[in-house]
Amino acid sequence: MTERRAAVVTGGASGIGLATVTRLVTGGWRVVLADYNAASGEAAAAGFGDDVRFVRTDVAREADVETAVGACVEAFGHVDCVVNNAGVGGAFGRLTDIEVDDWDYTFAVLVRGVFLGIKHGARAMRGRGGSIVNLGSIAGLAAGAGPQAYSAAKAAVINLGRTAATELGPERIRVNTVCPGLVVTPLVGDGVGAAEVMAGAQPWPDLGRPEDVAEVIAFLAGDASRFVTGEAITVDGGLTAAGPRMQEAYGGDPGKRGLVGVNRGTTGEGATVRRAE
Ligand SMILES: NC(=O)c1ccc[n+]([C@@H]2O[C@H](COP(=O)([O-])OP(=O)(O)OC[C@H]3O[C@@H](n4cnc5c(N)ncnc54)[C@H](O)[C@@H]3O)[C@@H](O)[C@H]2O)c1
Repeated sequence: MTERRAAVVTGGASGIGLATVTRLVTGGWRVVLADYNAASGEAAAAGFGDDVRFVRTDVAREADVETAVGACVEAFGHVDCVVNNAGVGGAFGRLTDIEVDDWDYTFAVLVRGVFLGIKHGARAMRGRGGSIVNLGSIAGLAAGAGPQAYSAAKAAVINLGRTAATELGPERIRVNTVCPGLVVTPLVGDGVGAAEVMAGAQPWPDLGRPEDVAEVIAFLAGDASRFVTGEAITVDGGLTAAGPRMQEAYGGDPGKRGLVGVNRGTTGEGATVRRAE
């Protein structure tokens, strides 16, 4: 019989984390669901039976993360994957008004939490190898997709993923970061209004679901991605690919007006324009 894989999923009680636990269990994994929220964590874990253990965890606390990783070794014999998913919206408001404690809380959950998951996950994977998957965000790639502290923290997570992959690659421990766009979860509200907001920005017509992100996390967790490390993968329905939409300011897309042709710039040769068939 092939050995069953085991993972620690932080923030596994809700949203993307819960979808990830569900996807991994469906794929034959056993999971330690590590979450701050004991009520939702226990309730979620109970639905999976023996394949999932809940461990109450604050990812900002080193002892808690060490305990969660240790619980996975104790219950399932080893750790093959850590999904550093736990997250909060964190500090918001103008930079000139934000309290240092709120800024530090944001970074403690989003960055220190990922560091600790990498540190203790990689220690448990020594000699065996494994995969670490961090939750970044498109907010970590540019401004405009999240509050300042959140965005800066997610940028740190993306870079930490690359440096960790470089350090841990020789030990066959892969580290990748998944950067979702807008995914309808409790973190972003109930989705009311999301469709209208995204319609003008996201090329893909459907809103992102936690399952869409969980599928990519599961791919990165398992051997199918064995040569992928140090990567930051956007899962955003083409939101970032669509770019700054400057074309609208420069007269719009001729294609949308049924025009096709070639602009020869300042060569002295004129443009060719015709109506598309
Ligand atoms: N939903 C989105 O649109 C979106 C987009 C980009 C990135 N993300 C990222 O995906 C991850 C999951 O987000 P979600 O939308 O599923 O959120 P969610 O609020 O549905 O779930 C987050 C979970 O993390 C837990 N958590 C919070 N602080 C914790 C802590 N200190 N220790 C342990 N657990 C803690 C919560 O209790 C909750 O169960 C986050 O890192 C978030 O930043 C989400």
